[in-house]
Amino acid sequence: MCGIVGYIGGRDAQPILLQSLRRLEYRGYDSCGIAVLASTIKVHKDVGRVEQLEKALPKNKGKLGIGHTRWATHGKPSKSNAHPHIDCSGKIAVVHNGVIDNFQQLRDKLTQEGHRFRSDTDSEVMPHLIESYYQGDLEQAVRRALVDVHGSYSLIVLAANHKELLVARNESPLVVGVGDGENFVASDVPALLDYTDRVIYLEDGDVGVITDDEIRLFNQAGEVRRETNVIPWTMEDAQKGGYDHFMLKEIHEQPRVIRDTLGGYLSAIEPEVDLGLESTEFEDILLLACGTSYHAGLVGRYLLEKVARIPVRVEIASEFNHSNAVLGETWVIGITQSGETADLLGAIKKAKQMGCKTLAITNCVGSSATRIADQTFYIRAQPEIGVAATKSFIAQLIALYLLALSQAKMDIRSREGLIRELRLLPDKVQLILDGEDGISKYGKYLSTYDNAFFVARGINFPVALEGALKLKEISYIHAEAYPAGELKHGPFALLTPDTPVIAIAAGDDTYEAMLTNIKEIKARESPVIALADEADEDIDKFVDYVIRVPSVAPIFSPVINSVVLQLLAYYAAKERGCSIDMPRNLAKSVTVK
Ligand code: F6R
Repeated sequence: MCGIVGYIGGRDAQPILLQSLRRLEYRGYDSCGIAVLASTIKVHKDVGRVEQLEKALPKNKGKLGIGHTRWATHGKPSKSNAHPHIDCSGKIAVVHNGVIDNFQQLRDKLTQEGHRFRSDTDSEVMPHLIESYYQGDLEQAVRRALVDVHGSYSLIVLAANHKELLVARNESPLVVGVGDGENFVASDVPALLDYTDRVIYLEDGDVGVITDDEIRLFNQAGEVRRETNVIPWTMEDAQKGGYDHFMLKEIHEQPRVIRDTLGGYLSAIEPEVDLGLESTEFEDILLLACGTSYHAGLVGRYLLEKVARIPVRVEIASEFNHSNAVLGETWVIGITQSGETADLLGAIKKAKQMGCKTLAITNCVGSSATRIADQTFYIRAQPEIGVAATKSFIAQLIALYLLALSQAKMDIRSREGLIRELRLLPDKVQLILDGEDGISKYGKYLSTYDNAFFVARGINFPVALEGALKLKEISYIHAEAYPAGELKHGPFALLTPDTPVIAIAAGDDTYEAMLTNIKEIKARESPVIALADEADEDIDKFVDYVIRVPSVAPIFSPVINSVVLQLLAYYAAKERGCSIDMPRNLAKSVTVK
């Protein structure tokens, strides 16, 4: 999704802006640009990568600048639609993330007043609107312009003759990086980490005036103080570390991620879980999320219902936002890696308005979800750079195991048995990673097909959904996931010898039914790759290929099977030469609704 950066200080802005934009590349983008204030504002932008933009750039001298990576929403990827956008006089430049809902109305009005637009974007109204109110005081003009704007934005404004950057935030993330004699602005922390580890998160409604030695923030009530946070991770944490792709590195980090997430909440000695949450009275739970996080939520439903005996619903956040949901004493839990997914933030706000207590499960300290929800439960995956979620998904699952165990309604011995098994998971995941070569050959095999099916039953059905999502998003192979029992209700029509089926044959009470379904699939001559327990001696008779997974208690099989499916997708995509860390049309953090 779009990224924005800004710099003001004693150094040349251009190389800093370019480096910061490179740090945001993982979010996904289709065009980029910068504006540097030299004697006048110099704007350079184009479709394509930061690398290409840099090659075409003259060496602009200037100590103030702004930059942008764009992920097209209004208007196709093109040079004119790329940011920064400038006003008619060429004296005000703006970079913007978010969506201006009433842009058409504003554009019509400004056009009537004589403003000439050069792009199809909603964002371009901003420099023109600011220009229309500008009478020498940039801060006043920006504030006045924002009164007219409906929608979501994080923006940075640069103006000729002003030694300051104006920033504003509403429903789209914005952070100020605090330097010595210089300051930085960005939509996301990685853009700042080469320069500072001290950051200030802006709140919705904040407007800021940033100079090289001062950061002044205002909201409707007047000047406000916001805490300076020290980021506990470095840019090194976010580097590839010798792997070909961030995604592969992040898959390999999973044993550590499980240990870290468990370590934060599970006593090292006693079988005690302490999530540090205030107790909440509730009758049922509603899990809200999008994409991969939604799949974690679906696994969470099985866990919470089985271990905690609590009624649980799971909804896709964007659907919940348009639903007529009836909630009582419901505990609403939003699951979001980034903490910035606009649909999910909207859903948490809606639940709060309905009087529900809310909890955010997220990876990102200080993200918007943590500020909207009543309570936060941090997973400990550390920064995830690959657009396709992997380690954050596994950490979300671990968080949900811990949540279920913290609410467990079962005898002490069974609960302690589950906690013992949970502690073994990092080693079990490591065993899968050690067998990566064996899995990679099935990934290469899948890469030769255009379609694939994933089937499973019970707690592994969401894992099948996640496996299909991973495969389609990074390898572009069309993949469908079904509960195995549903195939005969329609999807069977698509099974042919050219449709491989990945079947999760977990060693739980769904096993016999799965075998029946696998036989039905084989009768349609589709090749079947089964994921089966290492102790399963029967499965080979019924399928074409078997990927053996370490034995675990059935409730933990989603973790084990998900790692196998991540590797399958990775190697299929690699074989196809796909852009694994930045798949086409996708963004890491989806900050528009
Ligand atoms: C897929 C993927 C997305 C995200 C979704 C929600 O690999 O990463 O489906 O899971 O966009 O993002 P978060 O968890 O940041 O709310």
